[in-house]
Amino acid sequence: MVTKLRVTFAIQKSNIQKMNKTIFITGASTGIGKATAIYFAEQGWNVAATMRTTAKGADLLKYTNVKVWPLDVMQTESISTAIDQTIAHFGGIDVIFNNAGYALVGAFEAMSDAQLRQQFDTNVFGVMNVTRAILPYFREKKGGTIINTTSMGGIITFPLYSVYHSTKWALEGFMESLQFELRAHHIKIKNIEPGAIKTDFDTAIDFVSSAAYDPYATNTHHSMLENYKQAPGPIVVAKKVWQAANDSSYRLRYPVGGLGPLLIIMRKVLPFSWFTALVRLATEKGNGVVNN
Ligand SMILES: NC(=O)c1ccc[n+]([C@@H]2O[C@H](COP(=O)([O-])OP(=O)(O)OC[C@H]3O[C@@H](n4cnc5c(N)ncnc54)[C@H](OP(=O)(O)O)[C@@H]3O)[C@@H](O)[C@H]2O)c1
Repeated sequence: MVTKLRVTFAIQKSNIQKMNKTIFITGASTGIGKATAIYFAEQGWNVAATMRTTAKGADLLKYTNVKVWPLDVMQTESISTAIDQTIAHFGGIDVIFNNAGYALVGAFEAMSDAQLRQQFDTNVFGVMNVTRAILPYFREKKGGTIINTTSMGGIITFPLYSVYHSTKWALEGFMESLQFELRAHHIKIKNIEPGAIKTDFDTAIDFVSSAAYDPYATNTHHSMLENYKQAPGPIVVAKKVWQAANDSSYRLRYPVGGLGPLLIIMRKVLPFSWFTALVRLATEKGNGVVNN
């Protein structure tokens, strides 16, 4: 009798898990990815929190509706394995959150070919790898949502972020076009565009300079890092991801966090020369800069 009750309870529990929606997150070891994993778990969603080093997700395992799986966005085998494990365990995937990324920052001329490729492999081809891996499944189930952490830096630019910006502008263009062909399959695309957010992002920056660009590059970089000190935490982004995941419309863009949304509006309405002057004033602060 007791055994029968236990079995019934286990079946009910597994049905509940399958009825709940499931989000699959890349880069869930820290920052925005981890905050989103926790927020969705607390709202009752199933969460596949994927990361390169699963030990970093140990604290997420206190949530019974979270599973941690290894995934490196540059390793296609790890992507398909994590997707298969998630579908087998939770019974499906409703939302893919392409979040993993980092910034290569500094003087472009001083960057190596390996650094450029690593930046594009992670921020652009990594997103393409995960997106292409989930599409057959979403097409077959006739629906799904692909959410991406792009950036306000996918719409506007700052000094020294030329390569990072080019990855995020690439994502904005890629996703803006991709939405057309996926609409017929009821697959939605949503770009989350954060401003500066206090995570491990600033400490993980790969900064490059050389004598030809200093002191401008180093001083400007340090003045820009100040922005992260007052920046909001990743929970504001997690809540925006929640809004996007539950938005039944085909809205594409969701600016969020600090001055990000305002800067995007200013970029659209101000003459370009005014906006550029404002960016220089706010970021360069006369650091070794020739005023012209
Ligand atoms: N913070 C900001 O101000 C800001 C603003 C706009 C956009 N963003 C974007 O937000 C996203 C998340 O960044 P964050 O602020 O949360 O920074 P973060 O705390 O440094 O988190 C970055 C995450 O990406 C992961 N990652 C890096 N390379 C990876 C790879 N090859 N495969 C799988 N995971 C990888 C990291 O994993 P490891 O732990 O293994 O390194 C980490 O989990 C990024 O795409 C970033 O460009 C951030």
